[in-house]
Amino acid sequence: MRNEMMHRPVIDPDVLAFLRQDQQPLSGDLKKLEEHAHAVGNPVIPHETVNFFRVLLKVARPQSILEVGTAIGFSALLMAQNTPASTKITTIDRFDIMIKHAQANFKKFKMTDRIQLLQGDAADILPTLQPSYDFIFLDSAKAKYIDFLPYCLNLLSDTGILLIDDVLQGGTVLQPIEEIKHRHKNIHRNLNALFETVFHDDSLVSSLIPVGDGLLMITKK
Ligand SMILES: C[S@@+](CC[C@H](N)C(=O)[O-])C[C@H]1O[C@@H](n2cnc3c(N)ncnc32)[C@H](O)[C@@H]1O
Repeated sequence: MRNEMMHRPVIDPDVLAFLRQDQQPLSGDLKKLEEHAHAVGNPVIPHETVNFFRVLLKVARPQSILEVGTAIGFSALLMAQNTPASTKITTIDRFDIMIKHAQANFKKFKMTDRIQLLQGDAADILPTLQPSYDFIFLDSAKAKYIDFLPYCLNLLSDTGILLIDDVLQGGTVLQPIEEIKHRHKNIHRNLNALFETVFHDDSLVSSLIPVGDGLLMITKK
């Protein structure tokens, strides 16, 4: 699976290279996992998002985390390593190859007691979960974000943070739909619906951050 959004930055390429290459690197096995993922093209959050998460998690200190989109388990492990030992992480994926990689990685990093992997489509799993989570990371199929949003908001604690990744589609999300290739029209339409919903909801406070392919950060008022 190619990590397409790694190659569609929304900021100046020189600035991006600086953010990716000069910011504090990871260390140990997580650094090796990040390097391996980049080498083989496994989908993982880009390094500028890694560092944003490291700072955010240190400040927020969430006790319960929900992730939609585990892939090989890189971001779940990053979250585990940057939160207190008491923090529990639930992560969801439906792709069997990714699930096998993630299970092996959670075992290797000795994190199976802190990270629970739920297998299946998030559309089926999200309605079965109980509130509340104080950090939710949505990093799955982009066209489904608008459908997942009400479930995530229901599951989010009053002081929690919801982060939705890859919402800018390399900036093409701003173009008129007529200019979008047929196969991307659904994602384009649904991401615009997501912005429309979030930006006009008076019960939410949000910020769209241009790290990676755009990270939409949402909290409840
Ligand atoms: C971009 S990758 C996640 C990367 C991961 N968060 C990381 O940074 O290490 C997206 C993952 O979401 C999963 N996915 C996409 N749509 C899904 C859905 N509806 N339900 C469950 N998993 C889904 C895919 O199988 C894929 O492994």
